[in-house]
Amino acid sequence: MPDTDTGRTSPAYNPPTSEASLGSAVSADSSPTPTGTLLKADALVRHFGGVAAVDGCSFEIARNTITGLIGPNGAGKTTTVNLISGAIRPGAGHVIFDGDDVTGFAPHRLAAKGLIRTFQISREYKSMTVLENLMASPRNQAGERLFNVFFRSGAYKAEERRHLERSLEVLDDFGLYAKRNDYAGNLSGGQKRLLELARAVMAEPKLLLLDEPMAGINPALVDKVTEHIIAMRDTLGVTFLVVEHNLEVVERMCDHVIAMALGSTLATGTMAQLRANQAVVTAYLTGGEA
Ligand SMILES: Nc1ncnc2c1ncn2[C@@H]1O[C@H](COP(=O)(O)OP(=O)(O)OP(=O)(O)O)[C@@H](O)[C@H]1O
Ligand SMILES: [Mg+2]
Repeated sequence: MPDTDTGRTSPAYNPPTSEASLGSAVSADSSPTPTGTLLKADALVRHFGGVAAVDGCSFEIARNTITGLIGPNGAGKTTTVNLISGAIRPGAGHVIFDGDDVTGFAPHRLAAKGLIRTFQISREYKSMTVLENLMASPRNQAGERLFNVFFRSGAYKAEERRHLERSLEVLDDFGLYAKRNDYAGNLSGGQKRLLELARAVMAEPKLLLLDEPMAGINPALVDKVTEHIIAMRDTLGVTFLVVEHNLEVVERMCDHVIAMALGSTLATGTMAQLRANQAVVTAYLTGGEA
């Protein structure tokens, strides 16, 4: 079965550029109503030697929402993200994405279906310019590329030009246009995070998995990254699963929050509901041990 998504379009991405536009971006009126479940994690299990890192974890993520995944250190959040993104295979359980059982699919196959994990800017990408990073995004690595080079060079060049224009447009949206010829390795921590999001936009994800997007970035840029994530939900219809330790950020941007402890789901609700949940509070104080 081909993993093509030919029906998907590239809507313009219009992030908030001022407090006023952010206000409208987060208002209930401009958020399309979530319709149905995009991802279902069903009784996922993953052991590492004797450690049950994920131990029967189940939850659902509604379309067009930002879902937070919180919990104390070692709760199994990163392992859960790794299981969903195909970086590792579960020992048991299933991942259902967009109606299909994708358990054990490799990351590139999931990416073609629109399930993407943000890529830390690796050593290879650090030595490329900011613009080259966008040009090398997964969407530009289509299988027929080589065919086009040899047999349809005109069409190939037109496609490349469109890709270049779209890359520059996205860089402009993310405030990185002036940095387009800088090496990605020279960006600040926060700018690298924006570049990761910009690369993800190029891949046109349905579901984007972010593991601690605010870690190690300047507090001034935390707001900016938050605004971009909210805007990507509202203008591109991207659904997010975000692992985050900064609970104020979670409260501000997440529609729904899953609290994990000891490898499984402890509670779900809004951040306000979870703050008032005694089991969640105890898990944070004790790491989940009773
Ligand atoms: N590759 C691995 N090999 C062995 N143990 C692992 C491995 N990955 C994770 N673990 C263990 O599994 C448990 C869950 O780890 P995980 O990284 O998923 O937690 P986390 O919730 O992301 O924690 P943190 O908030 O600190 O990032 C921990 O006890 C961890 O030590
Ligand atoms: Mg982690």
